[in-house]
Amino acid sequence: MRSFLVQPVSLLLLFIAIAAVLTVGSSSVINETCAALKSLQPYDYCVGVLSADPAAAAATDVRGVAAAAVNITAQKAASTLRVINYLADDLNTCRGYYSSILQSLEDSLVHFRDGRFLNASLGIVNATGGPVGCDILLFEGKTQKDPISDENYENGRLVDLADGIVDLFTNKHLV
Ligand SMILES: *[C@@H]1O[C@H](CO)[C@@H](O)[C@H](O)[C@H]1NC(C)=O
Ligand SMILES: *[C@@H]1O[C@H](CO)[C@@H](O)[C@H](O)[C@H]1NC(C)=O
Ligand SMILES: *[C@@H]1O[C@H](CO)[C@@H](O)[C@H](O)[C@H]1NC(C)=O
Ligand SMILES: *[C@@H]1O[C@H](CO)[C@@H](O)[C@H](O)[C@H]1NC(C)=O
Repeated sequence: MRSFLVQPVSLLLLFIAIAAVLTVGSSSVINETCAALKSLQPYDYCVGVLSADPAAAAATDVRGVAAAAVNITAQKAASTLRVINYLADDLNTCRGYYSSILQSLEDSLVHFRDGRFLNASLGIVNATGGPVGCDILLFEGKTQKDPISDENYENGRLVDLADGIVDLFTNKHLV
């Protein structure tokens, strides 16, 4: 019974909060500041960015709006820096995956040229998990972005193709 009551009440509070933000959102100082910048900065972008920030919305003069604008920009840079750091960590792990992939493929090629076809085949199999492993790592990581998803996809397809052709040859050769 209680949970049936709590949910509508918290929903109502949420709506009140959103309504408050929307009405308090664009102050006349923000509007005047953005109107003065109109020839340099898109008005809607200016009002939108500043109105979403509590400090800018509460500012009573252009000085306050300016300080808030610098702070908004600093917060964004800090957040982007965090994204870059997470990506750099995950990409560093992928660097290891791809070093192993390359090593396995180069070993495989040597085996293949020297007629050790089973070893060659095993070397390629060893490389199959890497591209998708890197892809999953990045997509399931903190940023959920994969800047090398195209490369992972192409490597995954190629390694499967090479694996299939070497297996085809190896099986026929052994028969
Ligand atoms: C500021 O401008 C917006 C439109 O850009 C308007 O909706 C809002 O009422 C204005 N606010 C004030 C306080 O002038
Ligand atoms: C900058 O913004 C952050 C987050 O909105 C806030 O916590 C901080 O106090 C602000 N700093 C200044 C100097 O206004
Ligand atoms: C080839 O594979 C066999 C069986 O896994 C292994 O014993 C052998 O050492 C491998 N040869 C080379 C040159 O790696
Ligand atoms: C597979 O990869 C592992 C680690 O990279 C390596 O130790 C192993 O020798 C490789 N096996 C083959 C058959 O290439």
